[in-house]
Amino acid sequence: MELAGARVLVAGATGVLGGDLARALAGAGARVALTGRDDGRLQALAGELGGAPARAADAVDVHSVRAAVDAAARALGGLDAVVVAWGVVAFGPAAEADDAVTEELFAVNTLAPMSLVRAALPHLADGGAVVLLSAIVADAPTLGMAEYSASKAALSAWASVLRRELRSRSVAVLDVRPPHVDTGLVDRALAGTPPRLPAGHDRDEVVTAVLDGLREGAREVVLDPREKRLVRR
Ligand SMILES: NC(=O)c1ccc[n+]([C@@H]2O[C@H](COP(=O)([O-])OP(=O)(O)OC[C@H]3O[C@@H](n4cnc5c(N)ncnc54)[C@H](OP(=O)(O)O)[C@@H]3O)[C@@H](O)[C@H]2O)c1
Repeated sequence: MELAGARVLVAGATGVLGGDLARALAGAGARVALTGRDDGRLQALAGELGGAPARAADAVDVHSVRAAVDAAARALGGLDAVVVAWGVVAFGPAAEADDAVTEELFAVNTLAPMSLVRAALPHLADGGAVVLLSAIVADAPTLGMAEYSASKAALSAWASVLRRELRSRSVAVLDVRPPHVDTGLVDRALAGTPPRLPAGHDRDEVVTAVLDGLREGAREVVLDPREKRLVRR
C-alpha cells in the first residue's frame, strides 16, 4: 500500500504506540483520523497533526466504536486502512484472576478490535489493510499473564482467518506481535504487578516495522528470537 494519501483510522491513538503510529503515518503523508478514550489527549494529538478528525470512543461500547468509525470514514471520504492499538494488561496467577478484570481484558483486547474491524470493512477500499496490535505472548503465553496472553492469542487466531476471508478483496491483515516495549502499559495494569520483564524493545523499531509491513502488504511483524529484531513476513 502507498502510504502517501492513504486514509487511515488509528484506534488507541491516545496510547503510546498508537500515538507514535499516528504521527509516523501522518509523517509518511497519510491522512489520519483518530479515536481514543481520553478526549483531552485525543484532541491534543489531533491538533498536533494539523486538525486530524478525531472522535473519542470507549472500546467496550460497540455503539461508540461504530460512531467513531463512521465519523472517520465520513471525514476522510472512506478508509484505506485501520490500525487498532487499543490494549490493556493485567497480571497474576490464572487461578486467582478476577472475573471482571478478565472480562475487560477480553473486551478491550479481543472483542473490541473485532467490532471495530467489522464496522470499518464496509468503508474499507479493496486493496486496503487492517493492522492489529497483538503481542508476543500470543506465541509465548507467559506465567502471571495467562488472561492477557489468551486475549492476544485469540485476536491473532481471528486475524489469521480474517486474512484468508478478505483475500478476495485484496485486503491485507497485519498481525503485529511485539515483545515488551517501555510504554508504561504495565504500570497501567488493570490488576496485579508485572513479573520480571525483559528490557523494553525499541519503540521506533516497532513503528518502522508496522509502516514497512503496511507498505509491503505483510501478514505479520514478529520478533526473530535469535537476532532480537523484528521481522516482517
Ligand atoms: N507496551 C508493550 O510492551 C506492548 C507489547 C506488545 C503489544 N502491545 C500492545 O500494543 C498496544 C498499545 O499498547 P501501548 O503499550 O501503547 O499501551 P498504552 O500506551 O497504555 O495504550 C493503550 C491504549 O488503549 C486504550 N484503551 C484502553 N482501554 C480502552 C477502552 N476501554 N476504550 C478505548 N480505549 C482504551 C488507551 O486509551 P486511553 O489512553 O485514552 O485511556 C490507549 O490509547 C496494545 O494492544 C498492547 O497490548 C504492547
